[in-house]
Amino acid sequence: MQQTTIGIIGTGNICDAYLKGAATFPGIRIIACSDVNMEVARAKAETWGIEALEVGALLADPRIDIVLNLTTPQHHVAVGLQALAAGKHVYSEKPLGISLAEATKLVAAAKAAGRRVGSAPDTFLGGVHQTARAAVDAGAIGEVVAGACYMMVPGHELWHPNPDFYYQPGGGPMLDMGPYYLTCLVNLLGPVKSVIGSSKAAYDSRTIGSGPRQGETVPVTVPTHISGILAFENGASVTITTSFDIWKHGHNHIELYGRTGSMIVADPNQFQGEIKVSEKKGDWSVVPQAHRYGDGNYRILGLAEMAGAIAEGRPHRASLELALHVLEIMEAIGVSAETGRRVDLVHGCARPAALAAEAGYGFPG
Ligand SMILES: NC(=O)c1ccc[n+]([C@@H]2O[C@H](COP(=O)([O-])OP(=O)(O)OC[C@H]3O[C@@H](n4cnc5c(N)ncnc54)[C@H](O)[C@@H]3O)[C@@H](O)[C@H]2O)c1
Repeated sequence: MQQTTIGIIGTGNICDAYLKGAATFPGIRIIACSDVNMEVARAKAETWGIEALEVGALLADPRIDIVLNLTTPQHHVAVGLQALAAGKHVYSEKPLGISLAEATKLVAAAKAAGRRVGSAPDTFLGGVHQTARAAVDAGAIGEVVAGACYMMVPGHELWHPNPDFYYQPGGGPMLDMGPYYLTCLVNLLGPVKSVIGSSKAAYDSRTIGSGPRQGETVPVTVPTHISGILAFENGASVTITTSFDIWKHGHNHIELYGRTGSMIVADPNQFQGEIKVSEKKGDWSVVPQAHRYGDGNYRILGLAEMAGAIAEGRPHRASLELALHVLEIMEAIGVSAETGRRVDLVHGCARPAALAAEAGYGFPG
């Protein structure tokens, strides 16, 4: 089998999930990694039996087809542009960038280079979210008229040893976690037309809870409780709240309300879970899951699907267009919160194609 060869830039916290997940997809192979801090890259390379290369050497390596960009959000676009300039395809962790202005540079650069850009999240490709998609498309709850989403936690400083970026411009709960919820919603409902937002920050600083810097405080310079009302092109009105200010709550991650029933959607930050539907005021029942990749952490699925799409000459699903639309939604919620005005979106996107229940993502495992 032809293998697509991957080089990682950014060997921090999330890197292991990708290196582990790669084993599930025989069509891709991670051969090298790099980091501005070459000491961490070398340690990672040794653990996983791959090569550690300086960033320049990795980009110049003719064996590498796709650069997997696992740097922090502030560096996603710069590293992506470097990879495209070096003639590589690039797949980035989320968010695509920290502003729409910088992220749109990827569109022209990808076109000029004739290379693909893909972006996390890819959880919407997981079995449970494709099950939700199939149920919505089959009319399980009728036309969706409304929905509600909640991502509310006390803050990542409790577990992340270097949480600074979460509280700086480019961080915050919407840019950090919003991509999971919004990508999931666009997969289920299609693109958003306009948004209204509201935001605040409950605390001026955060205390690191683990690692060598435990006890150190980090200043908070961005809103940490952000709500939006999303008007979808299909007419649905969905509220979303993302927060680092909440200790505990009792809401579901995502609920959708249709003309004939309601749906509880699984955590969009996971590939597995349960989809429940009710008819009118009836009891909840679990929707049986036929789709593959339904139980486990496949945090490389979007990249594997992109590699398959490149090989087959078809569009990939965790696309630049989708990630740009999601970034625009998040930025627009912030703009609306600051100005007190509704913001109409200009970067639409097509709903990603649904996956067949037995789809092998181009690379049957
Ligand atoms: N940690 C998680 O559980 C998690 C989960 C899902 C997604 N993500 C996303 O993954 C990305 C990385 O998160 P993380 O937690 O691994 O961060 P991290 O800070 O642990 O690691 C990022 C690494 O990138 C390196 N880096 C930064 N800029 C670079 C550059 N220009 N060139 C080369 N190396 C560079 C840093 O030195 C660091 O080692 C973020 O976008 C985050 O939103 C993280």
